[in-house]
Parts: sequence; C-alpha cells; structure tokens
Amino acid sequence: MSETNETLSNLLHEERRFEPPADLAASANLTAEAYERAAADPEAFWAEQAERLDWSQKWDRVLDWDDPPFAKWFSGGTLNASYNCVDRHVEAGRGDKVAIHFVGEPEGDARSITYAELKDEVSRAANALTSLGVAAGDRVAIYMPMIPEAVVAMLACARIGAPHTVVFGGFSSDALASRLTDCEAKVVVTADGGYRRGAASALKPAVDEARTKTDVVEKVLVVRRTGQDLGADGWDDAVDVWWHDVVDTASAEHQPEAFDAEHPLYVMYTSGTTGKPKGILHTTGGYLTGAAYTHWAVFDLKPETDVYWCTADIGWVTGHSYIVYGPLANGATQVLYEGTPDSPERGRWWKIIADYGVTIFYTAPTAIRSFMKQGREIPDRHDMSSLRILGSVGEPINPEAYVWYRSVIGGDRTPVVDTWWQTETGSIMISPLPGVTHGKPGSAMTPIPGVSAEVVDEAGEAVPNGSGGYLVLTRPWPAMLRTIWGDDERFKDTYWSRFESLGYYFAGDGAKKDEDGDIWVLGRVDDVMNVSGHRLSTTEIESALVSHPKVAEAAVVGASDEDTGQAPCAFVILRDEAGDGGKDIVEELRNHVRKEIGPIAKPRQVMVVAELPKTRSGKIMRRLLRDVAENREIGDVTTLADSSVMDLISQGISSGK
Ligand code: WT7
Repeated sequence: MSETNETLSNLLHEERRFEPPADLAASANLTAEAYERAAADPEAFWAEQAERLDWSQKWDRVLDWDDPPFAKWFSGGTLNASYNCVDRHVEAGRGDKVAIHFVGEPEGDARSITYAELKDEVSRAANALTSLGVAAGDRVAIYMPMIPEAVVAMLACARIGAPHTVVFGGFSSDALASRLTDCEAKVVVTADGGYRRGAASALKPAVDEARTKTDVVEKVLVVRRTGQDLGADGWDDAVDVWWHDVVDTASAEHQPEAFDAEHPLYVMYTSGTTGKPKGILHTTGGYLTGAAYTHWAVFDLKPETDVYWCTADIGWVTGHSYIVYGPLANGATQVLYEGTPDSPERGRWWKIIADYGVTIFYTAPTAIRSFMKQGREIPDRHDMSSLRILGSVGEPINPEAYVWYRSVIGGDRTPVVDTWWQTETGSIMISPLPGVTHGKPGSAMTPIPGVSAEVVDEAGEAVPNGSGGYLVLTRPWPAMLRTIWGDDERFKDTYWSRFESLGYYFAGDGAKKDEDGDIWVLGRVDDVMNVSGHRLSTTEIESALVSHPKVAEAAVVGASDEDTGQAPCAFVILRDEAGDGGKDIVEELRNHVRKEIGPIAKPRQVMVVAELPKTRSGKIMRRLLRDVAENREIGDVTTLADSSVMDLISQGISSGK
C-alpha cells in the first residue's frame, strides 16, 4: 500500500453506522427499489417525478440533449411555478393549511400564513409588479430580510414570468449594484430594514447607494418592516414605492399564465474562481421538478403532519430550493425565521423547534459546530422530541459534528442527511435517504435515485473504492443550471470543458470513495493541497482537529513550503471550556492530527485564534489564511462578514497569543 493510500484508509476508518429507524423505514416515501428503477431508465424516472407538478400542457420530450451542454427538460410542456406552489393547494381544499409560520426576531413577533392567504398576497403582489411595468422576461431583484414578503415577492415574479434575482441582504451596495447591472434588473423589491441581533438593520440605504452605481433600476418597491427613519434623502418619489400602498390595495384576483418549461425562473449569483460572480440561470419545469422531488424524497416529507424548517437565508440557493420552491410545491408547513440563532439568547433555535413542533430541520455544519462549541447544556433545556429528520448542507460535515448533531439535537433517534449539491445543481444530488439507507458520519453517501455521480481521475476514469478524485455528474438532471447569465462561454468552460469528450459536469469538488463505494466530499479542488506529492484535503485535517476535545472549529490551508511543496497550516478556535488550551496545546494538536490521519498530515503550524474569517454565507475564506500562513500581505477582505477578523488574527499571531 502506498503512503497516500495509507493516509486515505486512516481517514476512512469511520466505523459508526446509523440504520434508519424502523418506523421511518416502514413508511418511507421511497424504497430501495427506486435506485434500480431510476438507473434502468432515468428519463422515465424523472418524467414520473415531473408528474408531481400540475402542467397546463404536458411535455413532448423529457430531455433534449441535442446541443450539449445546453439542456432542455420537458420540452413543449407549460406550467406556472407560482400556481404549483400556491393555488393548486387551495384548489385541492387545503387553503386553511399553514404554509408559513413566520417567526420574527423580536420575541412575540410571529404570525402564521395559510395557503389561501399566501395565494391572495402573491396575487396582489403580481398585480402590483405588473402595474409597476414588469412584464414576462423582465428581471426583478429582491434584496430583503427573511420576512414573508420575500417569499411572496419571489412567487409573484414567478407568477408573471419575471425572473428574480435574490441578493443576500448581508451583501454590500457594491455587490448589489454589480448584480443589478449584470442582469439589468428593472425593479428592486426591498424593505426599510430587518431585525438582526436585537436591532433594526437598514437595507434601503444600500439600494439607494447601489442606484448611484447603476442606472438600470426604474422602480424600488419597499416593504415597511422596522419603521425606521429613512432620512431626508432616503426617499425618491420618482422611483420609490411603498409595498403597502401598491400591494395591499391591489386585487387578490390574478390569473397565472402558463410559461414554457424552459422559461427562466431565476438567476442566482455565486462566486467563481475569478472576481466576477456567476449568474446561475435556472428555468421552470425541470428546476421545480428537481426541487419538489428531492424535498419529498430526501426529507421523507409527509405534508400532512410534518413541520419543516430550513435555517438558510432566501438569499442563497438553499433558500430558493428548500424554503420556497420545494416545500411550497409540496404543500408543506414550514417555519420561516428572520433572525440570528443567538438572539435574544443562545437557545433561540431550539426554542422555536419546541414551540412549533418542528419535525424536519435543515441547517449547515458551520452552525452545528458553533453550537457544539457552546456545549449541550443549552439545547438540553428544550424539548425537541418532535424532530425526526436532520439535514446538513453547504460544506463537508466533520464526523464529530455529525455525531453531536444526531445525538444532542436529534436525541440519538434522528437520521442525519448530509446533502451535497450546489447553486448550479439546483437540487440535492448526493445524500442518504433517511428511511432507506444508513448514515455514516462524514459521508454524503450515494447519489439519490435519478442522479448519476462518479469520482474520476484526471482522465475521467472512475476511481476504485478507497481512492480519491474529482466529483462529476455523468448525466444531465432536470434542475441543472442552463447557463451563466449572459455568458455561455464561461458556462461551457467552467463546468463542461474539463471532461468534454465524456460530457461530464465538473463540480469543482474533490471527493473520494471509501471501501464501501460511499462518497466523501472533500471540498473544492482549490482547497486540496499537495504535500510531498500527496493529495490532502484541508477538510480532512480540519475534521481531525475538530475531533480533538479542546477544539471547536478549525481551518486548514496549504501553505507553500520549500521542502514539501505545500504544508498544512491550521487555525483553530478552542472550545469555551478548554480555556487557553494549556502550554502544550500546539504540539498536542499537531500530534493529534498525526495520529488521526498520518504523519503526512501533521500541520506545520497550529495557530490558536479567536475568530476565523468567514464570508457572509459562513464559508471560511482560506485564501486570507493562506496569506497569513505564507507571511504575505493580506488580500481583499471586502467579502468577509466581519472585516476586522483578519486584523485580530494577525495581531494575535504577532503577539504570540
Ligand atoms: C459547494 C456549493 C448547496 C447549497 C449550499 C452551498 C460545498 C455543499 C456539501 C456537503 C460537502 C458540500 C461543495 C459545493 N458543499 N454541500 N454536503 N458536503 N461539501 O451552495 O454556495 O453553491 O456551494 O458547497 O464544495 O461545491 P454553493
């Protein structure tokens, strides 16, 4: 066995397995048979899933792949996404069912909205947007806090065929302006502000500022959420319109028009390897099929009894697929929470789960790790026995965080579904099925029925079990991105050129298959380092560090090294109860990694820090840590959630703290 393989097998010796609970297995939405059926005839399988939706006109062709990589799904079919998410549930007699339990951040600020109420509100908003001059095909930007009007605005756009582009409310006016310009948004829907960490946080001024940098915007529709003062220059009568003036007064009658299955539904910007964000385009029929099917299958949704909660922000794709389109197409009841997990106190999330009897909970590893750091005492104060399924998304989940999540939040009962997907894939691709397959901490397991994924080497050959490579999707799928807005070349180049002759979609992630053939997603290929010719993932080492009892969070980068090419450098945050870790903490952690993975992975440096640099979506910006590790001047920090973090880290290190 080579040294590399030895390293791999050390990492993959995870032996904990969690079987589906018997009652879940007995009533699971999908059974094991679905894997074979889908593999035997994927198009027939997807056509079956498309039947979950109401179509005005059925398709003539399931998949048109005549001009790859430009796919068309359900060609000839027509439908309205908003009708599918709202009206059809009302027409089926479920109008009184709660669609959204809205929980504002200020305590006591909560209301529940039924499907019938949602239909009326979406119809009014659709009429209002039309009166503001928005027609099918026009782009509308949405820059809002997590309030029901954000969901209403998205569905109103879908209803009139105006592709929306939701820009995360935490983005700066610059980021907003560049997105508005790139997709030429005619209207912006926003709010005066939202509540964050106990205070009103303004949004409208950023829109005003963005408008000084772009001239594409004709109207700004403003929800009054906080009632905060907009200032003397904060209102432009020629452009700004209050939501309550035009939406509340509009008719609640609106006939949704059926659009082509390939009509653009939305553009979601995501960062690529260059500075310019990519506008990922999703269309209607295939996307909605993918979102609805996966939400039903991966969370084993029982719409009559489940209360679902996804903590993502609607400014990210997770909010699009698993707050708006998937759950609402499925007629689910869900919680929508405006604020932060720790406002007004650290148990806020767990209190919401207890108050609403949440049964399915979907969040991100970064959140789980921060709760882990605080200890189990806070969640233990709340009755979370309603939970039956937990989900994870966004980054690899360290086995220790997975086990903590399952045991502390899930009471050792609930399966954890580690779901791998991307803005580009539109819907979940790789995940266990909670009532069918077992869970293995740290592994996203296998592609769900209908999806074909593989781990391949440079030449595109599938790697054997026990080896690593590139994660690819080998067949088109309905919710796949159709292009990058306005940039077909970049679309081809980024995703399809690497394995062009094979027609594989290159996800940009490294992954490996363990001895059982289960997939472990290791992180972006750019975060994989090469140490003495051996490939190591930052995530692997981070996972090893987080498995140490004193460590709460870790970030590892590959820093250039004279001897080994690259060397792992670790930045760690200690758990509260670990104090300063003791005088030998650095050696202790280096040796711990050596023990967990192998000598090759032993970090050259371990730096104990108070914070890690994160983007507003919670991703660690390793690029900046690499600058520290390589003693370089620190690069662009403008996309950090808190740009002072890098100063803290540099000062802490130079003062030896
Ligand atoms: C990238 C996509 C998918 C919605 C949220 C992020 C990483 C995502 C997992 C997972 C390991 C994961 C990948 C992927 N990622 N889920 N379960 N295990 N890695 O969407 O911003 O488009 O990021 O997030 O690196 O490529 P995104």
